[in-house]
Amino acid sequence: MADKQALVIFGATGDLALKMIYPSLYFLDMEGHLADNLIVVGAARSELEDNAFIAKVHDSLVDHAGADFREDVWARFAGRLSYCAGDVTQETPYRGLNERLKDCAIPLHYLSTSPDFFGTIAGHLKSAGLIRPETRIAVEKPIGRDLKTSREIEIALEQAVPEDRIHRVDHYLGKDTVQNLIALRFANTLFEPLWNKDSIEHVQITVAETVGVERRWSYYDSYGALRDIVQNHMLQLLCLVAMEPPPDLDANSVHTEKVKVLRSLRPIGAAEVERETVRGQYRRGFMESGAVPGYSEEAGGGTSDTETFVALRAHIDNWRWAGVPFFLRTGKRLPTRSTQIVVQFKPVPHSIFHRTMNAPNRLVIRLQPQEEIALQIMNKTPELEAVRLRPVTLDLNLIDAFRTTRRRIAYERLIFDALNGSMFLFVRRDEVESAWTWIDRIEAGWKERDMRPLPYTAGTWGPSSSFALTERQGYSWVE
Ligand code: BG6
Repeated sequence: MADKQALVIFGATGDLALKMIYPSLYFLDMEGHLADNLIVVGAARSELEDNAFIAKVHDSLVDHAGADFREDVWARFAGRLSYCAGDVTQETPYRGLNERLKDCAIPLHYLSTSPDFFGTIAGHLKSAGLIRPETRIAVEKPIGRDLKTSREIEIALEQAVPEDRIHRVDHYLGKDTVQNLIALRFANTLFEPLWNKDSIEHVQITVAETVGVERRWSYYDSYGALRDIVQNHMLQLLCLVAMEPPPDLDANSVHTEKVKVLRSLRPIGAAEVERETVRGQYRRGFMESGAVPGYSEEAGGGTSDTETFVALRAHIDNWRWAGVPFFLRTGKRLPTRSTQIVVQFKPVPHSIFHRTMNAPNRLVIRLQPQEEIALQIMNKTPELEAVRLRPVTLDLNLIDAFRTTRRRIAYERLIFDALNGSMFLFVRRDEVESAWTWIDRIEAGWKERDMRPLPYTAGTWGPSSSFALTERQGYSWVE
């Protein structure tokens, strides 16, 4: 057996690595989940010595681990780190890596770079002999920018390692609250009988962010909100809400159910985009933190037709969901950070309560920043003379319920599973491709109709036509 095991991180000085990957590894180390002989090698273009790299990781950990930063854990973790500089599109850095890792097992290469480099890196890893029998490759979403480019990447990846060693990361699947959707639906008998078109009126999924694109302009501008968030995070959430019960928790069983949902999505093409979708781009405005620039004024930015906001109405054409609209909305520079799923039930068939409101029941699953499940039910107010109703919520605060457990970063679980070879929390190739098939049509529809993003002021909930999308059917977005 090799003396050492190496986890190699490409894109090692990027935002994602600094904010998520090292803090996650640090916490895994703190809790004793990293093998004693695991070393972590960062690879990126910046010319840095090991010490400068380690100092960068240190500073980022002090920021991101906060009160959990411990000198003893850091000392152990820092001892695992080293750095290899080079342009990943050239052969040289791989030769250097191979030399350095010749006596190591390599359980995982983590590609935390732009998807534009996935194919090239996989090809070089293979030809440089950096793929060992045990090696797995993790790649970050989005895989490509459409079906065609995603297939090109897949071909390069599959030439390097087989499908069951490719970990396609969608970090939403690493969030506890997202995994809890499966438990909520399939570990309780309460919801399943109601979970269909007969009882549910519509579903809303919102991923709202207060941040702008900031330092990521060059990546973001060639992707936009539809490819950056809807194609992956939001469609994954939609799948978990809409899928049939899988026979078991085997990764393939769950992936197969998700693919069925993706394939049942009604296409939205040129004939539908103007009615079913809204595109927006933020202009300068005021957030709680003060004045913020518009998208085109962000660092590195310029004039652009890339959307930073999308709202759309989707339909899943199958027996369970026929006729139930799924409203999806995501955007940057919105007033609050909130990711939530709202399941709105049908109103009572006949109300016996006159002259008072009778609002429908709602199940609100808040994923962040709070983690809670709230059921809105109608109650009588305690008055003497009149019968009045008011919605009251039954609230389950998951942070309070599991107070003694540290809330993990989504990437902790993902890296842990990738290192241990579990595929459950990763995305299968046909999921990615079915999602792209649906998304590509919308993109093509926007192009054909010349549908440019509508401006919205930073700090507001997007273009007003996003409200019209739900209001046309008599519903409103839940904030
Ligand atoms: C990433 C997107 O996948 O998710 C970012 O590329 C986005 O644009 C981020 O900001 C949001 O993640 P979270 O976990 O903060 O909701």
